[in-house]
Amino acid sequence: MIELKKVHKTFNRGKANQVDAINGVDLNVNEKEFLVIVGSNGSGKTTLLNLVAGSVLPSSGSIHIDENEVTKLPDYRRSQWIARVFQNPLSGTAPDLSILDNFRLAAIRTKAKGLSVGVDDQFKKLVKEKIASLGMGLENKTEQPMGTLSGGQRQALTLLMSVMDSCKLLLLDEPTAALDPRSAELVMKTADKLIKDFELTAILVTHNLKDAFHYGNRIILMAEGKIVKDLDEVQKTAIKQNDLFAWFG
Ligand SMILES: Nc1ncnc2c1ncn2[C@@H]1O[C@H](COP(=O)(O)OP(=O)(O)O)[C@@H](O)[C@H]1O
Ligand SMILES: [Mg+2]
Repeated sequence: MIELKKVHKTFNRGKANQVDAINGVDLNVNEKEFLVIVGSNGSGKTTLLNLVAGSVLPSSGSIHIDENEVTKLPDYRRSQWIARVFQNPLSGTAPDLSILDNFRLAAIRTKAKGLSVGVDDQFKKLVKEKIASLGMGLENKTEQPMGTLSGGQRQALTLLMSVMDSCKLLLLDEPTAALDPRSAELVMKTADKLIKDFELTAILVTHNLKDAFHYGNRIILMAEGKIVKDLDEVQKTAIKQNDLFAWFG
């Protein structure tokens, strides 16, 4: 599904503040894999995600999504494959608009194939059904302004909006970093359920080693712009939570 070959990314090349953020990464992510990326601050996790999304282009190397070479394609030209969720739950939605209108906006923005806003009753019904499937009891509050929801509820709905599009790849960069523990758990459970329900390929960057332990079917550790550990599903299932903590000494 995703293939990175010998990818390097240098910021500010030739200047005093030059940073080699990604140093020769080879990475294959298979269809329906849920890859978790951990690593200390500045190890290149976000840059790697940005390279996949196209918001950062590589200095050298190549990137393919499915059979398509996307190495030099900017992010808006990759959006047919990719949905992204960021740290800040407020960034994905309009607080003064109703939940339903936020879904309408998202559908228009992404011109989602399965999500025609043309027939409004049908759209409403679909959105309510999908929201109901999250089991958060929000399906009867779709006329309520988005801003009246908790950060966790908003982030969960942002996730749903992102994946209701026909995207195949979900990128999550610390989606719970700005949330209290209960909201964070709600969002991670929602993400996990949506990834399974929509059969998505997913990449999660997280600081939370408990989440890294509980979610996903592959884990990589990054250090200084390189992948220094890579555990497949069998290996990930076999390790203990303390082994993960030990990676960070
Ligand atoms: N746009 C940028 N310009 C300059 N340096 C950057 C930029 N983005 C990231 N970096 C640098 O690249 C390195 C990796 O950053 P990042 O990928 O954000 O790490 P992580 O997400 O693991 O904390 C850091 O040293 C960071 O300062
Ligand atoms: Mg980061």
